[in-house]
Amino acid sequence: MQTIASPEISTEKQVDFLPLQGTDYVEFYVGNAKQAAHFYKTAFGFQSLAYAGPETGMKDKVSYVIRQNKLTFVLTTPLRTDNPIADHIYKHGDGVKFLSLKVEDATDAWEQTTQRGGKSYMEPTTLTDTDGEVVISGIHTYGETVHLFIERKNYNGIFMPGFKKWESSYNPASTGLQYVDHCVGNVGWNQMNPWVKFYEDVMGFRNILSFDDKDISTEYSALMSKVMSNGNGFVKFPINEPAEGKKKSQVEEYLDFYNGEGVQHVAIATKNIIETVEDLKSRGIEFLNIPSSYYDTVLDRVGTIDEDLQPLRDLGILIDRDDEGYLLQIFTKPLEDRPTLFFEIIQRKGAKSFGKGNFKALFESLEREQDLRGNL
Ligand code: FE2
Repeated sequence: MQTIASPEISTEKQVDFLPLQGTDYVEFYVGNAKQAAHFYKTAFGFQSLAYAGPETGMKDKVSYVIRQNKLTFVLTTPLRTDNPIADHIYKHGDGVKFLSLKVEDATDAWEQTTQRGGKSYMEPTTLTDTDGEVVISGIHTYGETVHLFIERKNYNGIFMPGFKKWESSYNPASTGLQYVDHCVGNVGWNQMNPWVKFYEDVMGFRNILSFDDKDISTEYSALMSKVMSNGNGFVKFPINEPAEGKKKSQVEEYLDFYNGEGVQHVAIATKNIIETVEDLKSRGIEFLNIPSSYYDTVLDRVGTIDEDLQPLRDLGILIDRDDEGYLLQIFTKPLEDRPTLFFEIIQRKGAKSFGKGNFKALFESLEREQDLRGNL
């Protein structure tokens, strides 16, 4: 897949050769961006930010940019058939195309990663308008997913050249979503370690946590996962692969319906998960159901928490603890008709981990849904 870094390059690993300032935006290829933008505004509380399409000189596609606090989504749809975006949607359904990362120097990011074996998606390209310039470059990652490097230090416009401000009289209130906490990729059988190596060698990430099939298995299905983090911890990409179980694993179901590897979930941080989830539910977002029995023993496992247990039980919010604190998390049902991409809502109270203590309850819940679809 990727070439192996030479020893001279490996010794440089002490220095962060790919300093990342965080997630710049997540771009989805969708069948109908106008309706998707309305959904994300209405149901998740995003605000209109920018627009590009035929009116701004982009003839073959339309993109809506929506924002909530530090969370920026771009929703893109093709205007015609016979182009790569239309092919992408035909093959995968709606899904994440770009996990775009904010950098100081997009040219250097491209050079550092491609010389270590990263496959170029886009050479450094400067986009300019009267508000300044944005430099973009990019490399391929798993499946047809791409990491773009976005350098916007010399840009003062609303989003980037080619876009105009999207003014809307429809502005639903925020639900308190703050920023991308992590993005998880599902990869094929025996592909987790090669992709771990890709993130280590090409992007200078470290493997900070590993889960094997003993950690993540139920009676029926299993998966394995390794969490990759960049140097400053702002960007975290767990990688899942299916593992043998009695029945089909949730990762296999995803790979079947997405027609390949791709982003399984985007985890979004909130400062108050109870308020955020109450709000999201009132706007029609559906979450995985957690059996009430989970809450009978959870405090024995995680100890004292600041929140009352009753609202967490009512909403189905999960709790886990590590050495540094605890976290609260919940998972939506898939956001498309295909059982592919979903969101996690997470509130960290010191914990830097990913909810290992919840895996069993979570995967049993996922399997109930999978069974209802006839895919277990
Ligand atoms: Fe997650």
